[in-house]
Amino acid sequence: MPSTKRNVYRNFITDFRPQRFKDVVGHAHVVRWIKNWLIEKTLPQAILFTGEYGVGKSVMAQTLAKAAACSNRSPNEYEPCGECHFCMGRDLSAHIYCDIGSRIKPDIFKEYITQAKNLGTNMAWMIDNPGQWYPILLEEMHDLPKQVQLDLRKELDEQWSGNTFLVGTSSDPDKIDAALKDRIKLIPLRAPDKKDMMKYVIGICRKTDIPVQDIDAAGVLVSRTNSSFRSILRILQTIRDSSMCLSVDNMKLAAELSGCE
Ligand SMILES: Nc1ncnc2c1ncn2[C@@H]1O[C@H](COP(=O)(O)OP(=O)(O)OP(=O)(O)O)[C@@H](O)[C@H]1O
Ligand SMILES: [Mg+2]
Ligand SMILES: [Zn+2]
Repeated sequence: MPSTKRNVYRNFITDFRPQRFKDVVGHAHVVRWIKNWLIEKTLPQAILFTGEYGVGKSVMAQTLAKAAACSNRSPNEYEPCGECHFCMGRDLSAHIYCDIGSRIKPDIFKEYITQAKNLGTNMAWMIDNPGQWYPILLEEMHDLPKQVQLDLRKELDEQWSGNTFLVGTSSDPDKIDAALKDRIKLIPLRAPDKKDMMKYVIGICRKTDIPVQDIDAAGVLVSRTNSSFRSILRILQTIRDSSMCLSVDNMKLAAELSGCE
């Protein structure tokens, strides 16, 4: 009987997005830092995840944003609960997941930051929990216009009352104003070990019923994509959607078809 499991996963990128730190492959030392910051209540005011295409910058930034804001997290816990309003991105959806983009006007940005700071302050007062923070998430920070970067630098020079913190991502941090970067804790994310990435590839094949014809193909896939989770998932999805098995030839064909050359 044909398996129906193949159809369970429609979009590999979102379906296999880690929701908690325990599901994150690699980046163990970074997860340890985050754990300490959350438990010791020493979260830096501004953090920036950098790294190559698809290495997991947004996953780390979003998981940290959720964990920091989570209202069910006990003092010795660092994982987001995944169920509260904050973790579900309801109350904070506009802020947690805001993709600011390159066209934001300085006055709109200022309003946005002011509002977030007020919410962070209110949250600290209302909830009276020094271990809970209000996140401002800025994806691809290098896209922010120059003036906005300068304004943000000034903002970070002020002591923020309340528990607002900034978490950003950037695949091109050289384009971020140097003085702004000086005020942010930079966290470069590097690709996990090849062995771990191969295990990851085989794991995804198992879950999605992709027959592994040639185990070497997993290694070639990891090398060819420079261990980009995003590229790996796109290629494996193409293989699955075309009802192919994992072999070196199919992998190359799928890489072409999915534009991951
Ligand atoms: N550390 C990880 N462990 C397991 N899966 C991951 C990890 N990082 C990323 N992924 C997978 O790869 C997908 C893309 O990751 P993410 O969007 O975080 O990458 P990114 O570095 O922000 O990429 P981009 O450069 O395109 O912005 C995620 O949806 C998830 O499925
Ligand atoms: Mg990203
Ligand atoms: Zn929660």
